[in-house]
Amino acid sequence: MEKEITCVAPPNIALIKYWGKKDENLIIPLNNSFSITLDSSDLFTKTTVRFCDPKKNEEDKFTLNEKPQKLASHKRIVNLIAKIREKSSLPNKDDPIEIDSMNSFPTAAGLASSSSGIAALTYCLGNLFEVYGTEPLQLDQVEIGKSTKKQEGKNEENKQVADLLRREKLSAISRQGSGSSCRSMFGGFVEWIAGEKNDGSDSRAKQIFPKSVWPELRVLVCVVRSEQKKVSSTLGMRRSVETSEYIDKFSTKVVPKNIKQIKQAIQSQDFETFANVTMKNSNAFHSVCLDTFPPIFYLNQDSKKVIDFVHSWNDIFGTQVGYTFDAGPNPVLIMLNKNLPSFLDAFVQTFQIENLVNQPLQQILKDSQFNKLVQ
Ligand code: DP6
Repeated sequence: MEKEITCVAPPNIALIKYWGKKDENLIIPLNNSFSITLDSSDLFTKTTVRFCDPKKNEEDKFTLNEKPQKLASHKRIVNLIAKIREKSSLPNKDDPIEIDSMNSFPTAAGLASSSSGIAALTYCLGNLFEVYGTEPLQLDQVEIGKSTKKQEGKNEENKQVADLLRREKLSAISRQGSGSSCRSMFGGFVEWIAGEKNDGSDSRAKQIFPKSVWPELRVLVCVVRSEQKKVSSTLGMRRSVETSEYIDKFSTKVVPKNIKQIKQAIQSQDFETFANVTMKNSNAFHSVCLDTFPPIFYLNQDSKKVIDFVHSWNDIFGTQVGYTFDAGPNPVLIMLNKNLPSFLDAFVQTFQIENLVNQPLQQILKDSQFNKLVQ
């Protein structure tokens, strides 16, 4: 039996957005970004990679959601595999591989499926080709406490540090498959540091706070429409970089200020600031989209109704809820556990929501369960 690796990776939701690249080929962003990693049994990508018998298979193969793909038309994946092979010292590294990937949610509905998809793939490839280390990554098993017995303290700590570092390095590869995916290499609150080097080697994700930092926080992902979006993030941000004047202020002033504010808010569990900064940054990002020429509209009528609803709610009850929207119309809502039941009642009554994925933070913020399915 040829070697095979399977893993499940979560999407992440940017609270402070990445929008625009300094280097298109290497995917080096204009600014740092900051996200929360979801960890839900409803939202994930599950990927398996295996070496194939070199005599039977001549080339690499890729299946997405049970449909065989023309790998050549997924240039970033081809590129990602090449980069991993380059870093591998396995004697059989040039043997063909087979990739089988499934998203549990619509691929391009603005639910960041590329973030979990590319992260899952990078993680699997990193393990399969034994890049930056030969051990399967350990941290999640230790943190989640599923299958490992806690081993001797120091040894275990060293392993965790090594594991974090390896994830950071892998995130720099993942980033080149799709920028936002690098943040899915960690659970909890994650920052993607834009970096300063021209080769992008310091453009990596880092975990800033673990999942346990704010257990009362909850995240609701709402799907208001599941059709394919019209302008992909890649094309949208290219157009913004070329035509928007506001993007410069967004990336050099608004984002750095917001990242500082949100870190402080998380540390002091100041929900009002946390929600306001998140909402303002989302609105600022969509303002860049509107300032792009021709303009890009990711929000639709449903999104705008949700925005109005949240503000009306907060006017009455104080700031209990925040929203954020990526490159699509689906609202992601944040709130504290204690405020969820009353808000949800009113929300579900008001909107015809196709599907509502509602997970407590204890689950959502678990570290990525990358290793869970590794045999
Ligand atoms: C709005 O990571 O999808 O979700 O790097 O071109 O693949 P590429 O773009 P992608 O862009 C995500 C943009 C965003 C904001 C964010 O996740 O930070």
